[in-house]
Amino acid sequence: SLVVHITGARPNFPKAAPVIDAIARLGGGEVRQRLVHTGQHYDEKMSDVFFRQLGLPEPDVNLGVGSGTHAAQTAAVMVGLENLFLEERPDVVVVYGDVNSTVAAALVAAKLQIPLAHVEAGLRSFDPTMPEEVNRLVTDRLSDVLLCTSADAVAHLGNEGVAPERIHLVGNPMIDTLLAHLDAFDVDAARAAHQLEGRYAVATLHRPANVDAGPDAQALVATLHAAADQVQVVLPLHPRGRATLEEAGLFKHPGILVCDPLGYVEFLGLVRGADVVITDSGGVQEETTVLGVPCLTLRPNTERPVTITHGTNRLVTREDLPRQVGIALAADRSTHKVPPLWDGQAGPRIAEVLVGAYA
Ligand code: UD1
Ligand code: UDP
Repeated sequence: SLVVHITGARPNFPKAAPVIDAIARLGGGEVRQRLVHTGQHYDEKMSDVFFRQLGLPEPDVNLGVGSGTHAAQTAAVMVGLENLFLEERPDVVVVYGDVNSTVAAALVAAKLQIPLAHVEAGLRSFDPTMPEEVNRLVTDRLSDVLLCTSADAVAHLGNEGVAPERIHLVGNPMIDTLLAHLDAFDVDAARAAHQLEGRYAVATLHRPANVDAGPDAQALVATLHAAADQVQVVLPLHPRGRATLEEAGLFKHPGILVCDPLGYVEFLGLVRGADVVITDSGGVQEETTVLGVPCLTLRPNTERPVTITHGTNRLVTREDLPRQVGIALAADRSTHKVPPLWDGQAGPRIAEVLVGAYA
């Protein structure tokens, strides 16, 4: 049988790696796997570095869709995948997370009546202004197998009328990848690379609501400067919004150390040694939860509430960020719990479901 995995954007890669590996182990010669890269992300630091560091196989196909409006990007992925699926006739298509490549693949698989499995199903921010929320709702509605990282996700799917036998609570494959590479996250190397002495914060920001042009970007820069008055802030900057934030004066504060996006191992080495993380990333909320690093999420909501109830995450407004940085710096690294099944075995659980159903 043939399993086709669809990836395309940075957060897809650490989710897909343990699933592909586990299916190869469990499926043996019975199951063929193909890895598609849509080309949604294409910079070496947004894509290739993950393939090298995470031991992912080379993609069998790169659709090379690149950047564009939502419609243009989603449509380009759909056209590319339709051709591919018609040729290859997969027994199951596996999609990851909530990016445009995810929803595009879901639409194509559903219309060709190819079984669809969604890894990270059921997460809900209930915020329709987020493009990712639209992608999650559509993808889950079309999926035959819904693989969930947390109990809240299972409950959302139940409330939406998804049949219970389609829903599987399997844990978090992104955390499989984190735990598998923990020994490589080298805080001393990160300090040396960024010439850091003493305490530091790490920031990652790329949500349209924070970084796209206009008053939001201005307000973001002002609050980051106020945070940098208290502690040096290393900011590996996502390409989205780089120009806007630079124009809004981000680079002017000497306590803000802007760099290019980092490789996975280098980034998490930096995060592991940080006193506090400031982010609007989905995955980083989860990774800081497991590493026990305080996380301040610059968003009004999160689709990952276990990072608050169990982990180290806290939602903050731009206005309150400087005060919250002060609180995080003054606090003891208190106790935190790792959410259930975030134990490094999500990949094998997902493989069991998929090989059982489709091999
Ligand atoms: C996408 C996802 C978002 C995810 C993020 C992870 C959607 C709708 N959004 O957002 O959910 O959190 O990836 O990083 O799918 N660019 C480059 N080089 C690249 C890729 C992008 O310069 O390799 C720039 C381009 O100017 C592009 C912009 O970043 O227009 C946005 O890229 P895009 O993939 O459309 O969305 P992201 O903001 O990266
Ligand atoms: N990440 C990375 N280098 C960076 C910033 C993030 O390797 O400079 C990793 C991060 O550790 C996580 C993934 O990228 O594994 C998260 O992707 P991103 O924040 O782009 O997307 P989101 O999770 O918000 O969809």
